[in-house]
Order: sequence, then structure tokens, then C-alpha cells
Amino acid sequence: MAKHETTEAIELSFDDFDEMNNPPVAQTDFDVLAEKALSRRGFLGGSVALGAAAFVMGTTSLTPFAVHAADSRLGFEAVATNTLDTVTVPKGYSWHIVAKWGQPLWSDAPAFDHATRGTGASQERAFGDNNDGMALFNDAGRNILVVNNEYVNRKIIYGGADGTGKPRNADDVRKGKAGHGISVVEIKQAGGQQGGGQWAIVKDSPVNRRITADTPMEITGPARGHDLLKTAADPSGTKSLGTWNNCGNGRTPWGTYLTCEENFNGYFSSSDPDYTVSPELSRYGVGLKDWGYAWATADERFDISKHPNEPNRAGYIVEVDPFDPSSTPKKRTALGRFKHENAELVLAKDGRVVVYLGDDERGEFLYRYVSNGVFSEGGDNGDLLDNGTLSVAKFDDGGRGQWIALTPASTGMASQAEISIHTRQAASAVGATTMDRPEWVAANPNSVEAYCCLTNNKNRGLKPNKGGDATPVGGPNPRKANKYGQIVRWRPDGADHGSDSFAWDLFVVAGNPTVHDDDRKGSTNVTAANMFNSPDGLAFDRNGLMWIQTDGNYSNEKDFAGQGNNQMLVADPATGEIRRFLVGPKQCEVTGFAWSVDGRTLFVGIQHPGERGDSHYPDGGDTTPRSTVIGITRDDGGRIG
Ligand code: FEO
Ligand code: CA
Ligand code: CA
Ligand code: CA
Repeated sequence: MAKHETTEAIELSFDDFDEMNNPPVAQTDFDVLAEKALSRRGFLGGSVALGAAAFVMGTTSLTPFAVHAADSRLGFEAVATNTLDTVTVPKGYSWHIVAKWGQPLWSDAPAFDHATRGTGASQERAFGDNNDGMALFNDAGRNILVVNNEYVNRKIIYGGADGTGKPRNADDVRKGKAGHGISVVEIKQAGGQQGGGQWAIVKDSPVNRRITADTPMEITGPARGHDLLKTAADPSGTKSLGTWNNCGNGRTPWGTYLTCEENFNGYFSSSDPDYTVSPELSRYGVGLKDWGYAWATADERFDISKHPNEPNRAGYIVEVDPFDPSSTPKKRTALGRFKHENAELVLAKDGRVVVYLGDDERGEFLYRYVSNGVFSEGGDNGDLLDNGTLSVAKFDDGGRGQWIALTPASTGMASQAEISIHTRQAASAVGATTMDRPEWVAANPNSVEAYCCLTNNKNRGLKPNKGGDATPVGGPNPRKANKYGQIVRWRPDGADHGSDSFAWDLFVVAGNPTVHDDDRKGSTNVTAANMFNSPDGLAFDRNGLMWIQTDGNYSNEKDFAGQGNNQMLVADPATGEIRRFLVGPKQCEVTGFAWSVDGRTLFVGIQHPGERGDSHYPDGGDTTPRSTVIGITRDDGGRIG
């Protein structure tokens, strides 16, 4: 989630207030939960019964570490936590920088200027800020890395000016908008694939492209042309400008990239302080004030008192063709409008396209889209993301769950178009399960199951979501005021992602066993050696190992003592074993994955190092910190997942 001063301040005071009034109870009903978890192990059956123990919470008799080290599939030495201002990887592995914020993509753009941190014009020709989700595409040997640039660190990008982090003029706003969106870059490995050298951006490649908050987009699917999408600039409701707050990503088997619009609300404001914000916009967090980006000061469409429908044109999954720099990205409204985290695409048994989608806000929902048509290799798959059924997850406490279709009949809403725009309201109407902030979903390539990081939720059991839905403790959200997060796993009935029912479990409940002895110590596969908080990024490698990235509290004290900087871990879904692979530099988040075609390089995103001012990663000395994509290789040239 994008951090910003306004809510940060509110969040802190809320926590202090809450801890004063609701001191944590020493003994919780955690043991009861563990018992329940034990009693519904049946669905897992024989061979993975040992793995089942991995996510039984609060027990000591059954532990996943019955798996002997010699049997482990995690073939590297664990990295200890640290608070260093650099990237740490296991012995026998190395990392290098592939791309950094502000790096020019064309030779007509200036080199990054550490003093001014660039202009609007230079940023439009350079790699964006805060890289997040990404994917690598291959076209006849050409490697095309497509990277989300989620948001900008205002205090850093405007830090060379007056230090307030506020844009001072229209060019600062232009620079801010250009720091957002997507960077499409060709990358090349020194010495070619056999050489195994470092990867770098190919300047002036014909595929290089910047997509920003001003790039023309086409709106497709059920909401295309709906009255709620019409604006003064686009009376047809079919064309919008730009994409921003692009968080996680997805990719399709037909070779396109999916970018996910998350905290789109934080960019809108009202020039009229008495303007009444509609409940529909409030549900999405749109209010009279933006989060400090000040885009409305230079671009009137971000002023909701003048253009109240503009926010309805953001919050979607956007499909991009990485091979054609002149193509128009498409906002796929059939996949719903909310604070999209990522888009995990798999195929149902019959070939329909299934997309799992999380809405990352406290007490919001987990969704699934299933296309009407089936994927055809080499055929026309152009409308698969326009015609289908969007459903929302409802979990029961007994380990079962269902996908509830969002239709006019089930929601009482007027049309599928309206459901595509006011998706949160539709999900509330069918009584979906309020979740602890669904972040990335990842599907196991070797087994019909999917996982979702529920990053944390300090409001769990204390406060309803923005729509007024209760957030009771239970089911996949088992802890009140959840500080550490958990990963939920589900297995669709009939081993088919197209099935409407599933069995679920918790794969891991994060915690700190060195500080707590109650439910905050985490599940039995969390130890002093591998602990972490706030799981966020999630992806499987081709071997079926699951990589977990964190976006959590890096204070390294109190509840988070010993957990150090944000990190990346690897888990074996079959045994529950989890081992730390990487620690990021100070004040960063680790987010985004891609693998080279040969599997010998893992690309990882280091987002917002020094977001609170304390880092000089990656350039060192007195330089300003910069988000980067790094490449990780094995010193022996072997595969890395
Ligand atoms: Fe952009 Fe929910 O992380
Ligand atoms: Ca982030
Ligand atoms: Ca997060
Ligand atoms: Ca995230």
C-alpha cells in the first residue's frame, strides 16, 4: 500500500488510542482455532498430511520441521535478518542492478541528476519510480521487461527543492505523473545467455516505452460507455487518460501484461471545500483532499467537484501489449473496480480463463473472474477479459468456501456495468468475507491450489470496513488487530479453478515467537530463524516453490524486534518449510518478481529504499536513494527457481 503522511498520522494515533483502550489479552481463543484447524485436516489426505501440520497454529506436537534438513527442497543457506543499507543474498549467490528510478531509456534523455532529481521532461524519458509488479517477455530472443511504477516518493523526487515533498509548480506535477505508470524496457545480458553476465537496459530499443498517468487508454467490458464513466473530455465514456498506482501485475498466456490499479483514490481532490462527496466515492476513499500529489492543481480532471465521474475511470485491471509500443492499453472493467493488488491468471479444466484478484484495503474482499470463452493457443483471445463472471469469496469457519457470482440478481444492482464500477458495494451486498487486506495471489503450477497474502489488519475485530461491513475475528482472519499477517490457501473442488466451491487453510500465520507466546508468535512453521511480518508479494517458480516478499514494519523493535529490514523468503508448499533468501536495504519494500527464460536470473524489485530519509541505496555516498530492479544469479551459473 502506498504510504503517505496524512493516513500515516491517522494510523499511528489510531494504534496508540486503540492500545490504550483495548490492551491485548494474554490468553486468546487461539488454541480453539488450532483445534478447529486440526479437526478439518481430512481434505488434505495421506501424502501431504505432514504438510498439513505446517499451518496448524499454536501446537508444538506437530511441526513442519519434522522434515529433515537433508530432505529440504530449499537448497540454500538461510540469510539472517539485518538492518544494513544493502541487499543481502545467500552464500553462493550474487546480485546486480538492472534498472533504477530516473535512468534514461533513450539517448536523448539526460543522465539522472542527484541534485534536482530531474524534470517533467526527463522523467517522461526515464525509468519510473517505485517499481513494483513486473514480468519478462521474450520475443525472438529479445527480452522485454515490463515494470509497474506504483507511485512516487514525493519527499525524494522533490527533495532537491524545498524538502516539503510538495510539488511547487506544474512541471513538478508533470514529473510526478511521469514517475507513475509502467516502464517497458528491453534488457540484455552481458556476454549473452552463455556468458551469464549482468543484465542492463538497452537504450533506444524500439520496444522501450513509458506509459504514464497521461497515456491514452481504452475502456472495455460491461462498463464501457456507462453514464458513470462519462466526463466532459470523454462524453462517450470509452476513453480515459493514464494509469497510476500500478501495484502488482499479471500476465496472460496470449502474451500480454496486466497492470493493477491500486490506491487510485489518493490523487483526487476538490477545489470546493464544501463539495459533498458521494457515498459511492467515499467507499473507495476518494475525498476532498488528495494524498499530497496535488495533481488537480495542474490537471483539472483530478478535481472531483468539477469532474465527479473521473475517479470511476480508475481502479481497474489494464491489459498492455508489451510487443507493440504504439498499442492502446485496455481497461478491462469486467474484472471489477477496487484497489487491485495483482492478477493471477490460470486456466480452468475446460480452458476458461480464471483470474484471482485481491482488493488491498482493511476488510475488503478476494475476487475471482472466470471468462465465458476458452483460451485458444494462437487464436483470438481478445475478448476473454471482457465477457465473464466476477465472483467474490465467502469463507466459513469450518474450512470450506464459495465463490458468489456478482450479478444484478444476486446483488440487487441495476446492471453488470454498475457492478463493474461499484464492485465493492456489490460484494458487500452478497455478504462476502471481509479480509485482512488481500495482497498478491499466486497459484501453484504443480497442484491445483492458490494462495493469497493477507498482509495485516489492525482493524480486525475492532472496526468495520469502509462500507460498514463487520470484520469479525475468525475463518482465514483469525487474529484481532492483526499486526503480522497470514497466507491463506484454497483448493478448488474437483481440482478445477473453475469450480465454485473450495476447501481452505492457513499456510502460515506470521508472528514473532521471540517476543510473544500467544497467537502473535505465529504458526509452527514460523521460528526465530525465519520470522517476518506483512507478507505481500507472492509468486511460484517453475519448481513449485513459493516466494514470499514483505512490506512490513522495519523498525526492528518491540513487536518487530529481530525482524530487520523487509525481506524475501522461499516456502515449500508441500511441507510448510520457510527459509529467508534475501534482506533488502533500509526502509525498502521488496516487491515484484520475474525469471529469465533460462531460469538462471531472478529479477526482484527493491521499492522505496529510504522512504523516511535514511538510505543511500544503491549509489552510496551522499546520493539520493532510488528504487531498483535487481538481478540475482547463482555463482555456479545454476538455475534459481
Ligand atoms: Fe501496492 Fe497492496 O500493495
Ligand atoms: Ca509499496
Ligand atoms: Ca503491502
Ligand atoms: Ca503490494
